[in-house]
Amino acid sequence: MTQPIVFPNAGSASMLPAAQAPAEPCILVIFGASGDLTKRLLMPAFYNLACDHLLPEQFAIVGIAMDEFTTESFRGKMSVDIKQFSTRKEFDAKTWDWLCSRLYYAQGKFDDNAAFGSLRDLVSKLDQQYQARGNVLFYMATPPSVFGLISDNLDKAGFKTSSAGWKRIIVEKPFGNDLASAIALNREILKYWTESQIYRIDHYLGKETVQNIIAFRFSNGMFEPLWNRNFIDHVQFSVAEAVGVEGRGAYYDRSGVLRDMMQNHMFQMLAYLCMEPPTSFAPESVRNEKSKVLEAVRIMDAEAVRANTVRGQYGPGRTSDGKPAPGYREEPNVPPQSVTETFAAAKLFIDNWRWLGVPIYLRSGKRLWKRGTEIVVQLKSPPDVVFRGTPVESLEPNRLIFHIQPDQGIELRFQAKTPGPEMLLQNVNMRFDYSQAFTASRAVGYEVLIYNCMNGDATLFSRTDLVETAWQIAQPILDAWKDERPDFPNYAAGSWGPKAAFELIERDGRKWVEILNRETLDKVPLFEGADPQLLASLIMALKPVVFQPGDVVIRKGDIGRELYLISRGEVEVIDGSGHVVATLGEGSFFGEIALLTSAPRNATVRAKSYCDFFMLDKSNFTRVLRDRPQFLKSMMEIAQARYNVIVEEMLLEDD
Ligand code: BG6
Repeated sequence: MTQPIVFPNAGSASMLPAAQAPAEPCILVIFGASGDLTKRLLMPAFYNLACDHLLPEQFAIVGIAMDEFTTESFRGKMSVDIKQFSTRKEFDAKTWDWLCSRLYYAQGKFDDNAAFGSLRDLVSKLDQQYQARGNVLFYMATPPSVFGLISDNLDKAGFKTSSAGWKRIIVEKPFGNDLASAIALNREILKYWTESQIYRIDHYLGKETVQNIIAFRFSNGMFEPLWNRNFIDHVQFSVAEAVGVEGRGAYYDRSGVLRDMMQNHMFQMLAYLCMEPPTSFAPESVRNEKSKVLEAVRIMDAEAVRANTVRGQYGPGRTSDGKPAPGYREEPNVPPQSVTETFAAAKLFIDNWRWLGVPIYLRSGKRLWKRGTEIVVQLKSPPDVVFRGTPVESLEPNRLIFHIQPDQGIELRFQAKTPGPEMLLQNVNMRFDYSQAFTASRAVGYEVLIYNCMNGDATLFSRTDLVETAWQIAQPILDAWKDERPDFPNYAAGSWGPKAAFELIERDGRKWVEILNRETLDKVPLFEGADPQLLASLIMALKPVVFQPGDVVIRKGDIGRELYLISRGEVEVIDGSGHVVATLGEGSFFGEIALLTSAPRNATVRAKSYCDFFMLDKSNFTRVLRDRPQFLKSMMEIAQARYNVIVEEMLLEDD
């Protein structure tokens, strides 16, 4: 049996191995405790830690906010909310009662000195009661504009000198709105706290799959020798969100995706993927390497920004499940002329020995066709001369794909010979899947961050220099964008983003690797309820195909053999008398009955614009099904119920 790997300095384990010791005693004070963060993420994280016996007995939480709660009503509210937001498969009432009995509430404004005096008294009483050794962790679940004010009032109330034990603060993003404000915020916080007391949170670093990037890189000998400009063609980071601004229009409009996702979460992932090996997993070793690699990212001038970045804003369209969705400018609290970007793509270069000349492409956006975060490391293509004179027309480069979310795993794509006498190749993969390899309950991602902070381990938190370096990369992009008025909206809600993002990479003779995740394929009714392995096999069998405007994709009356999923562009469905009866856009699919029957197509489908499809042909489909006869039965039932199609098993023979 394999043993979990425990990192050398036990306290600084960046992943939580099973059976680890509870964190250090402390009283944890949450500023802004009545907000969304506490109920959605923090409380479920505390509860998960408690279930895993990672919270000490000497522990209590004090929530402080302006809202009128008493300790009792706060406990009552949290007890209701936890049922909604807990990520555990089963609710453990005993553990929740244990945690709930340790919740306290203090009402107060952040500029009210008297409130800080009462807070100090409450914390010191609880410190005695729970034997927390004078350790206090302040969690700033508030806008950054009050970090300084709260710190000042904590100081004045004598928190720093009132007891022995450590005092630490966790600060939430956004850490600055640009380079100048980030520097100012750092200065302000550093007036009250030393660097070792400050824990700047980036919740992406709480994700197992993100932490696994460095674990994977540095615990396996196989890939690291290839991890450089000699073997890697380019890297792609894609963070697609299906949601819009979700009622956060006022915040988002001052932010935009570059500030909201790229400057922090995506640059953190980039640092993990591209940094040099640290000398150990000690916090400063890791943080030094992360800073170094971000320092090597080439800073763009205005012309380079124009050539290497794209921004977008969604207009009206559809949600990922087909319902009408408003454009960004129609969202609540968003000005009707807003030029805030909800999509961005960029090509960066890291000017160091390892990465010189290797393009790093990033893209992220809201209201895209699917939710999915993936990193694709594309290796250089092999020479195809050996295949001259065979039916093989071209070779696909190998790709190592980190599935960060919602699918969680690592996949290596390569080519294999298809069975039979001819030399034919097919894309296949090797895949590690978290859900199959591990049984741990889903975490919210804050567990490891809170646990590590309670233990004084800052590995997963951003240091002053890293935050400022990340802003140094982003600032020239913001500046150049400010000077040019964009033509917004430029992509429809529910699509794959603006066309210019595709052109950005296609100019270099490359393509975004569109990862279809199982969630997406699950939406095709035929595949409803299919097991994950079946979906994974189908995904590998999909082939990308391209159509020009006006091209007929399928023709009424023809015998079809293919299902199409639209990944980019629009098609028109045309009936027998030549009328357009529907227009389908990104994320839709058509032609699925062809996989089941050999009946003629009942409509014509024509490309309305440039279209990229994923195509699944019947021979691949039947090959996959042949390996999974148990799925055949349920799919036949779906076909009959939904399409009134009786599938004869013989039709599923490859014809
Ligand atoms: C937050 C952003 O930091 O990250 C949100 O403010 C975004 O706009 C969220 O939706 C994405 O996080 P996740 O964990 O869902 O990928």
